[in-house]
Amino acid sequence: MSMIQKIKAKASANIKTIVLPEGDEERTVQAAAILKKEGLAEPILIGNSDNINAVAKTTNSDITGITIIDPALSDKAPLYADKLYELRREKGLTKEDAEKLILDPMYYSIMMIKLDDADGLVSGAVHTTGDMLRPALQVVKTKPGMKLVSSSFLMDCPNKELGENGLLVYADCVVNPCPTAEELAYIAVATAETAKNLCGIEEPRVAMLSFSTKGSAKHELVTKMQEAVEFAHKIAPDLMVDGEMQFDAALVPSIGASKAPGSPVAGRANVLIFPDLQAGNIGYKITQRIGGADCFAVLQGLQKPCNDLSRGCSVEDIVNTVVMTAVQAQA
Ligand code: ACO
Repeated sequence: MSMIQKIKAKASANIKTIVLPEGDEERTVQAAAILKKEGLAEPILIGNSDNINAVAKTTNSDITGITIIDPALSDKAPLYADKLYELRREKGLTKEDAEKLILDPMYYSIMMIKLDDADGLVSGAVHTTGDMLRPALQVVKTKPGMKLVSSSFLMDCPNKELGENGLLVYADCVVNPCPTAEELAYIAVATAETAKNLCGIEEPRVAMLSFSTKGSAKHELVTKMQEAVEFAHKIAPDLMVDGEMQFDAALVPSIGASKAPGSPVAGRANVLIFPDLQAGNIGYKITQRIGGADCFAVLQGLQKPCNDLSRGCSVEDIVNTVVMTAVQAQA
């Protein structure tokens, strides 16, 4: 069974309600029909019901039994607007602004998950990463004990000798442009949790990546990764995390043994923490495009799961992202 098949099996064992703010978008409607038919999640489509039904007709999608909510006609919109105002008035949001914003499917959906009317959210077939991330960060907020929101990329590599039977979890590749050493430590903790809860990796082994292994080079960027390891040991004493180390020292047993002898992680890492967003984003694309890995992305650290799609996503990508969101909601 592939990693995504295992995640689908978990999702259907405990069905979660996932709201799709881009409810009248063609691929989203098709994905919702598949999710419902295959019993993978209970999708909710946000948007005008005439538009959604017209899209279902033209795409030949059976959306019978799927809830459709139009924020403009919703009884809950005034309650959501009040709560949004309460949450954001200190940041300068007026009541009138909140009443307008709640008609935006993104904010309406964010308030649904904030107030437990849905378990998770998936968008991004139309909106940019920032369009979804900003309201999620402003309203849903981070989990207790977690300092920041970040992302994990699940890289399912053809070379099954790497990581956990070919699976590597990379972070952060989407959210935080320049994390501090402390933030990198929290990213390491969140990514190890994702590796465990979503990918079923029982023993996450986390490598803090650098261009240096165990002091082979001296530079402030290297020091930052060394400090990140120290922070991670402080905030998560039971987590197996080590570094700083180079990419090959993290993954190749012989190189790990020669460059970082005695390290519990070197040569057998399954979770890789990149020093910044440039390295992480470039790293996952190299693994995907040159290494031939299948790649699945999730956000982590939010109180309720919200996940982003690429605007070029396929129907299958939306289905996969919804099932990952559903499994995150189970945890
Ligand atoms: N975790 C938790 N909260 C955060 C985080 C974070 N990582 N970043 C920002 N916030 C909070 C802020 O504290 C603030 O909260 P407040 O309004 O309650 O005070 C709120 O979010 C907004 O913060 P800003 O800094 O004003 O938000 P900004 O406009 O800078 O946007 C964003 C934040 C969208 C995450 C920004 O950092 C960003 O654009 N990151 C890169 C996204 C990107 O382009 N990724 C690459 C492409 S995606 C791909 O390749 C797959």
